[in-house]
Amino acid sequence: MEKILRNENDISGGIENVAVPLEDKEYLKNCSDFVYSLQNIPSLEFQEKSWAEELQGCECEAECNRDTCSCVKQWGANYNSDRLLIASSDRPILECGKTCSCSSGNCQNKVVGRGVRLKLQVFKTPDKGMGVKCLESIKKGSFVSEYVGEVIGVKEAKTRTKFMAERPSYCCNYILGVREKVNGSDVDTVSFVDAMYVGNVSRFINHSCEPNLKMVVVRHTNLIPKIALYASRTINEGEELSFSYGPSCNKAILGSTRSCFCKTDSCSGYLPFDDSLIESSD
Ligand SMILES: C[S@@+](CC[C@H](N)C(=O)[O-])C[C@H]1O[C@@H](n2cnc3c(N)ncnc32)[C@H](O)[C@@H]1O
Ligand SMILES: [Zn+2]
Ligand SMILES: [Zn+2]
Ligand SMILES: [Zn+2]
Repeated sequence: MEKILRNENDISGGIENVAVPLEDKEYLKNCSDFVYSLQNIPSLEFQEKSWAEELQGCECEAECNRDTCSCVKQWGANYNSDRLLIASSDRPILECGKTCSCSSGNCQNKVVGRGVRLKLQVFKTPDKGMGVKCLESIKKGSFVSEYVGEVIGVKEAKTRTKFMAERPSYCCNYILGVREKVNGSDVDTVSFVDAMYVGNVSRFINHSCEPNLKMVVVRHTNLIPKIALYASRTINEGEELSFSYGPSCNKAILGSTRSCFCKTDSCSGYLPFDDSLIESSD
């Protein structure tokens, strides 16, 4: 994969629909040590799984809606006519994708698949490293961006976590767990997305204990999960974007947890940390 040359006017190197500028070019080096990608890169383990195979798309010629579109009918309607999220966050979303006959048109069941549409900016926060804000206000339910990275399994996520824990010079952890309820059973951790080496603007979005974005698992074209970030309330122009990295954590685990600097009233004190990743390897 080619390493993209980027500058402070667009850290995506021209591949996003909308440029992603950096507020202060002094920090360009903080934004240059990863490959910018618009989509997840599945690890070998996932490329081999059946869920990397293409899904059968819909055959809609006109609008995709809940009465006629096989994609919408399968898991339910996802967006209103303004492409704002209407689905509850505890069920996954199936969007129309590359295998659907509607895919070249203005399908309203295609939102994450259309990529970033908002003017996002990366900036240096006082105490959390880099962060992201939006240069325009955002309506509740708007898709902001996908958390892009390498899709890895639990074994690889444990190896990478151990590697980082042994090297305190690694300031940031970019591994996010994708948890889904399978057939209404208990929460099942299926996979992880690591944006350390491959990622997009979302890798700079910080955690907050009172976030303004929420994570929803979305699929289109194949069954490989995508972590999509949507506004959970109206967000003002210039406000820092944040989402919750996971269930709150109120204790330091084996020195692996970090203090949370979200400064909200409900701050638990520590960044969420997936302690399943520090158990002995299986
Ligand atoms: C996904 S990265 C977010 C971008 C990161 N700030 C950067 O400079 O690349 C996650 C890392 O950011 C930092 N971080 C994110 N949210 C934080 C918070 N609420 N308080 C303190 N540090 C935070 C931690 O170092 C964490 O491991
Ligand atoms: Zn479709
Ligand atoms: Zn469609
Ligand atoms: Zn906090």
